[in-house]
Amino acid sequence: MPASQTPVDQAGPLFTPISINNLALKNRIFKAPTMEAMADEDGAPSKKLIRFFKRTASGGSGLMITGLTYVDDTGKGYVAQNGIHADRLIPRWKELTDEVHAAGGKIVMQISHAGRLADPRVLDGGKAKAPSAMPNLMYLHWARSLTEREIRAIIRDFGEAAGRVKAAGFDGVEIHSSGGYLLASFLSPLTNRRKDDWGGDAHRRFRIFEEIYGRVRQAVGQDFPVLAKLHLGDFLLLGRPWPANYQAGLRMQALGVDAIEFAIGVQENITITFAKGGMPIEVVGDHLSRMHRQYWKAIALCYTPFTKVTGPYFAHAARELKRRGLTVPLLLSGGIRRFSEAEHAITSGTADLVGMSRPLLREPNLPQRWMSGHHDDSTCVSCNRCTLGLVNATPIQCSYREESPSKRRP
Ligand SMILES: Cc1cc2nc3c(=O)[nH]c(=O)nc-3n(C[C@H](O)[C@H](O)[C@H](O)COP(=O)(O)O)c2cc1C
Repeated sequence: MPASQTPVDQAGPLFTPISINNLALKNRIFKAPTMEAMADEDGAPSKKLIRFFKRTASGGSGLMITGLTYVDDTGKGYVAQNGIHADRLIPRWKELTDEVHAAGGKIVMQISHAGRLADPRVLDGGKAKAPSAMPNLMYLHWARSLTEREIRAIIRDFGEAAGRVKAAGFDGVEIHSSGGYLLASFLSPLTNRRKDDWGGDAHRRFRIFEEIYGRVRQAVGQDFPVLAKLHLGDFLLLGRPWPANYQAGLRMQALGVDAIEFAIGVQENITITFAKGGMPIEVVGDHLSRMHRQYWKAIALCYTPFTKVTGPYFAHAARELKRRGLTVPLLLSGGIRRFSEAEHAITSGTADLVGMSRPLLREPNLPQRWMSGHHDDSTCVSCNRCTLGLVNATPIQCSYREESPSKRRP
């Protein structure tokens, strides 16, 4: 039989179904969350974003997770970032989920508060907010610490946002608690220096997540998939995850979280942590001062020896999470470029789903190609030019110069 006619059940373990709560997925490949920078001024999805997800759904990913989407204006982190901060946005998002479903896809929204990591251009001259006063070493500004009242408002905002996610037809919601954004910075002993009910020990650092989860579950009900993206560490100790944060993953599971994705690292060290690869500062727009640009260049130089991608770089942490007792579906991403790596992550029990972010920007139909028996590697070179969408507020895309193979027919 020609490879192009390989039936799904012969396509191997990557193409076996799995469920997250009541959500049945046709295969084990997910599009990892990737900030799209395709929102209009109100944070609503643009036509371009709808086309982007429709194309990715048609490419065969079993599940897609949106990029971080703010739950309230005060949690916005990027120019052109999407939001789910008001009921008026529900019909616009419904248009997107309808198109995705018509294309055979499933989509979960990642809801987020940027916290300390907000780009100064969205702060309107105000200060970013964090558990404790702390610098942002990428944009060189200081965040101030949140008041008790503000923390309560954020918990409420997450709950209300989750209700909108469900009303807009999404297949699930993911609470973003990694990458150094607000909830991750509560989990981190380095950035959470509070001594009140929200910090001081691992239990209290976890408390904001626990309360948010309660509100989210109340808003969406027991049958709706609630995922979490867990922060395993800031990477300051040579990339070693913190034992307390493995424990936080197990506590998420005990609360009732239906699946766990995870990452290590914060925005300041993104190119040696969760989006390992190049730091293309030569193509950053001119909103940065000359001094600031020199500063980024110096950082890039220091990072260079540690940016090479040689396979799934968080597999060790996935194995450790499972060894410690995680049984809900575990979503692994980071550095997966080969069919054999993706398949091995599933057959070895390292993960239950394997995700890709940058490879699917370059070639949205990679899952379909692999399913049809064409197992060539992704041609993503992890140059990170795609991350420019975040800093330059331009729609996310692969801009590596060589011709993308996406036109290749599976
Ligand atoms: C441009 C870009 C934007 C990203 N945006 C998000 C995001 O919004 N939320 C998130 O949890 N992770 C985000 N990530 C991390 C990815 O989900 C993924 O974990 C990481 O890129 C490693 O996977 P890869 O090697 O397949 O690209 C982003 C990564 C990139 C490169």
